[in-house]
Amino acid sequence: MISGGTPILVLKEGTRRERGKGAQFNNIAAAKAVADSVRSTLGPRGMDKMLVDSLGDVVITNDGVTILKEIDIEHPAAKMLVEVAKTQDEECGDGTTTAVILAGELLKRAEELIEQNVHPTVIAQGYRMAADKAREALQKVSQKVSYEDTDKLKEIAKTAMISKSASAHRAQLADVAVKAVQSVAEKMGNRWTVDEDNIQITKKQGGSISDTEIVEGIIVDKERVHTGMPAQVKDAKIALVDAALEVKKTEFDARIEISDPSQLQAFLQEEENILRKMVDTVKKSGANILFCQKGIDDLAQHFLAKEGIYAVRRVKKSDMEKLAKATGGRVVTKLDELSKDDLGKAKEVYEKKIGEDKMTFVTGCKNPKAVSLLIRGGTEHVVDELERSIVDANSVVAVAIEDGKLITGGGSSAMEIAIALRGYAPSVGGREQIAIEAFADAVEVVPRTLAENAGLDPIDTLIDLRKQHKKGKKNAGINVFTGKITDMLTEKVLEPIRVGTQAIDSATDAAVMILRIDDVIAAKTKAPEMPAGGPGGMPGGDMGEGEF
Ligand SMILES: Nc1ncnc2c1ncn2[C@@H]1O[C@H](COP(=O)(O)OP(=O)(O)OP(=O)(O)O)[C@@H](O)[C@H]1O
Ligand SMILES: [Mg+2]
Repeated sequence: MISGGTPILVLKEGTRRERGKGAQFNNIAAAKAVADSVRSTLGPRGMDKMLVDSLGDVVITNDGVTILKEIDIEHPAAKMLVEVAKTQDEECGDGTTTAVILAGELLKRAEELIEQNVHPTVIAQGYRMAADKAREALQKVSQKVSYEDTDKLKEIAKTAMISKSASAHRAQLADVAVKAVQSVAEKMGNRWTVDEDNIQITKKQGGSISDTEIVEGIIVDKERVHTGMPAQVKDAKIALVDAALEVKKTEFDARIEISDPSQLQAFLQEEENILRKMVDTVKKSGANILFCQKGIDDLAQHFLAKEGIYAVRRVKKSDMEKLAKATGGRVVTKLDELSKDDLGKAKEVYEKKIGEDKMTFVTGCKNPKAVSLLIRGGTEHVVDELERSIVDANSVVAVAIEDGKLITGGGSSAMEIAIALRGYAPSVGGREQIAIEAFADAVEVVPRTLAENAGLDPIDTLIDLRKQHKKGKKNAGINVFTGKITDMLTEKVLEPIRVGTQAIDSATDAAVMILRIDDVIAAKTKAPEMPAGGPGGMPGGDMGEGEF
């Protein structure tokens, strides 16, 4: 800033600043780069990505949000697109790639308009109006789905899983997901809610994907501590203890001098008595099962076995909480305070060998809304990607039950939105009309990318798709396997409406937010390898390297 010839420094030295179109184009370029990074994974014919972190750990996935979480993104505008994926994931568990690609495309179209001197706030306004209309259009094409529509719910789960590597087993996995969600769904008044936390997921490497099963209850990845204990207990009364069944060691080094053998005997006897008493407390409470969050001394194990109590030690805190919730028991932190009222109940507790290890199954819990999914698969990477697929499937089924509405996929709903927007734009007029039309073009990125990833000609496919919709075939979409335009209802490519509405909402929010920025003021980074740039000027085009 120059005033009367003397520069006035408002910002700290080293601060970088970029204004106007330069800042906008820079942000848009960064956001588009993020969208491009996940583009090739969209749809059933999309590819996977292998991500290797700085420690050499490998993740293989097709999941948009997982990819974006794993890669190290620095640019602030690019980070906003990662947020889009996260929001989408939290709200509906699926459609993360779609939401990010849509945000990227909205920004790309906006860039063209800015170049034609349409003001960014006008574009933002037009985009907001378009998003409202798009949501309306989705409601119009949506169909009802209910808790009882098991078949439709299964198709929704299958659609969410088709692009993942577990796709070959999706029929069986969809069965598992729908059963799990149906058993935890609760009706309040006339609304359904699903608390997905009630579905416990346990992964165990080994076996095959088809060994994945649903267990009505809780699985604890631990075996009983002593083989003398019963391996199966019916009518279980469960003590949950967050205290060690061990004799406390002193915090400091202590030496006890023993001068005659009887003293040693007495000393050992005392230890035994303490442990005995602890086991008696468990016994007296009426428990026949003990889940202990801490350790259990060998001698205590022996006493427990003699009493016929099934005991597990060093149970994870999260498992203890799940057990408490499922069995109606209470976790006690002081063993002497354990009483009958603290015990949880289950029909059966048993040990079962899964792969190489033994696990404890707690079934027929007091709270029937507790289920577990035991995920099996050949390697760690398979099990991990399978878990992501099942979590997606659970989410879409849950969301479909909660909202009671579904839409068809394969680009069919996107095309309906585009048509609705093109019909609506002229009624708005002015410059907003151009922005609404740009939004319509942007939404077509979904069918276009599906076609591209399936190796089809995107332009021909899009023209064909448009034609079918103009004829009134609302559910016409791209059959990525045959390359034809077919009815997605017949193909059973179904998605919960929220996947669509949420993608529109979060993509629009991010695009509008990025568009409204015309000034980027970045403090000097503390990183030592910061390249020395001239004051005021930013290296053109790419802000992704150390500026933030
Ligand atoms: N059988 C099918 N035929 C055509 N399109 C399909 C089919 N199954 C799914 N799709 C489409 O694929 C797209 C979803 O692809 P994908 O699952 O890779 O991405 P996403 O759901 O946006 O993100 P993510 O699953 O990574 O969170 C949706 O547009 C959906 O309609
Ligand atoms: Mg998906």
